[in-house]
Amino acid sequence: MTDVSTTAPTRELPAFPMARGCPFDPPEQYSALRAERPIARVALPGDRTAWLVTRHDLVRQLLTDPRLSSDRTHPNLPTPVPSLPAQAQQDFAPIANALIGLDAPRHSTHRRMLITEFTVKRVQALRPRIQEIADGCVTDLLAGPRPADLVSALSLPVPSMVICELLGVPYADRDFFQSRTRTVVSFNASPEERAAAIRALRGFLDELVTAKEREPSDDLLGRLIRRNREAEVFTHELLVGLAALLLLAGHETTANMISLGTAGLLRNPQQLAQLRADPALVGQTVEELLRYFSIVDAIPRVALADIEIGGVTIHAGDGVALSVGGANRDGVAFGRADELDIQRGGRHHVAFGYGIHQCLGQNLARMELEIVFTTLFTRVPGLRLAAPVDELPFKDDATIYGLYQLPVTW
Ligand code: HEM
Repeated sequence: MTDVSTTAPTRELPAFPMARGCPFDPPEQYSALRAERPIARVALPGDRTAWLVTRHDLVRQLLTDPRLSSDRTHPNLPTPVPSLPAQAQQDFAPIANALIGLDAPRHSTHRRMLITEFTVKRVQALRPRIQEIADGCVTDLLAGPRPADLVSALSLPVPSMVICELLGVPYADRDFFQSRTRTVVSFNASPEERAAAIRALRGFLDELVTAKEREPSDDLLGRLIRRNREAEVFTHELLVGLAALLLLAGHETTANMISLGTAGLLRNPQQLAQLRADPALVGQTVEELLRYFSIVDAIPRVALADIEIGGVTIHAGDGVALSVGGANRDGVAFGRADELDIQRGGRHHVAFGYGIHQCLGQNLARMELEIVFTTLFTRVPGLRLAAPVDELPFKDDATIYGLYQLPVTW
């Protein structure tokens, strides 16, 4: 049977991104699409179209398909934000092309240069320092006024401090890079505002990388520069791009998971009680929160060749949005998929992606989340939300979902 969505004019297609009904769930349309048209044509802002994939098995299959490119500079890449002006696209290219925007075999060469920095063993060595940082933030939170904003007290500082120390970026510059990052990932910022934020971040990291090239420091960027002197994989521009990618991905994602995860557990007191009764459940709790919130939705790709899949033909040049939220709430892959259940123990979620681009920082993110939730819920037993859930400022206007503020008291 021909899928009418493949031939429908753009104005008749469902618009993407789709609005959420409940802030704790993906857009309601995903369930119907998954059941009826798991690979559906959608209309993007700016009169563009793409395929939206909402079924777990199809998302995983396509994430490992080499006929889909990650080229972040391709004009058909299904991004929900309007295109940048031409000059800004040039400024953005080294960031866009750093690792996450590369295809094999170039991607494999670049990833090999970084992978040793993110092994489980390497990340485990950071545990005492991450614990110290989390403890410091919770101590300050408890000493401060009530209600407090958990985002500025804990969610942002912990991953920002960790990634700054890991990379060798001065933490004193946090206001600068956090606010520019917010603009880069926002749907509502104008192309000019996003361009200015990208230019500013790039200039900042250009100076930093230049200084480290002159005198390589004992941090990730310094080590990478030394390693690169022999391997000659990265140009200066690409080193700047990688620094920007790691700085952005290293704090914004984990910060949003800390805020949403805390709100999710406070809203489900029985789940929180189970975690408090058995702190060893924290690993499983983190996996479930990652699945439940799926903060990166959707992963963008462009087809390099025609692909026959699920009864449709994705043509060469078509944009494809692989929905992490759709896949992670697929009832076939996860029983009672819409329930938060910390006993679930399912690690086949795709919150960190899947295939060659699967999140490089996942071991670090998991550890930060485990430490933060354990520390927060142990040291602040009376923690509760200080505002009704429907008044919380969720990030409905950003490519990484989360919360702008989270008022809490205890
Ligand atoms: C809860 C936190 C996080 C989530 C949900 C998350 C999610 C993701 C996802 C979905 C991808 C795949 C993108 C794609 O296939 O196009 C990805 C890739 C990536 N992430 Fe994360 N991430 C998190 C934390 C981090 C952290 C802490 C870092 C760095 C320290 C990081 C660095 C990266 C990098 C460098 C890539 C690109 C990998 C590649 O292309 O080979 N992420 N992340």
